[in-house]
Amino acid sequence: MAVTLPLLVLFVLFSNANAACNKSFTLSSDTFATENFPNRNFTGYCHYQIKLPFRRAIDLQWLAFDVGSPKVNSKCPDNYVTVSDGAFPQIQHTYTFCGKQPQNITSKTNILSIILYVNSNCSHQGFRVKYTSRIELSTFTPNVKVA
Ligand SMILES: *[C@@H]1O[C@H](CO)[C@@H](O)[C@H](O)[C@H]1NC(C)=O
Ligand SMILES: *[C@@H]1O[C@H](CO)[C@@H](O)[C@H](O)[C@H]1NC(C)=O
Ligand SMILES: *[C@@H]1O[C@H](CO)[C@@H](O)[C@H](O)[C@H]1NC(C)=O
Ligand SMILES: *[C@@H]1O[C@H](CO)[C@@H](O)[C@H](O)[C@H]1NC(C)=O
Repeated sequence: MAVTLPLLVLFVLFSNANAACNKSFTLSSDTFATENFPNRNFTGYCHYQIKLPFRRAIDLQWLAFDVGSPKVNSKCPDNYVTVSDGAFPQIQHTYTFCGKQPQNITSKTNILSIILYVNSNCSHQGFRVKYTSRIELSTFTPNVKVA
């Protein structure tokens, strides 16, 4: 899979993440929001990871989303959010969202990493997101071991 560059970028983001908004979620369902939601006021990135046991598929639903300007020629001009399905080195897909219209996601693995990347001094709301999960017995490849 030709995903080396995004992985490298993710690695760099993780290693520089703002510890104050570096959060991990392990309950089978939960709801969370960006820091200070709905009032944003910082520059940098935040990393939110949902890590569930083996064979749990995650249904991610955005309850609110306002992150910078919308895509122009399919690129986000300033702030954006990436959602990676799976964990290194088994990332299945990485979605990139900005503006106000993200897509709800059903994962193919038991791990979703959401990274908010803020390039400008952001006056947008950020996001609030909810997830639920269910045991997926058949079409679930590969399973990612949670360390
Ligand atoms: C983020 O949190 C995880 C789990 O607590 C920790 O292992 C990691 O070092 C943290 N990363 C940063 C950049 O704070
Ligand atoms: C943003 O943060 C700065 C520094 O903490 C603070 O002075 C300012 O009042 C905040 N602005 C808003 C709109 O919350
Ligand atoms: C963001 O903008 C606010 C209001 O203009 C300012 O008070 C704050 O210091 C800025 N924060 C950063 C991190 O630049
Ligand atoms: C995502 O899920 C939320 C909560 O169920 C729903 O309100 C919203 O319409 C969904 N968005 C899309 C694009 O389907």
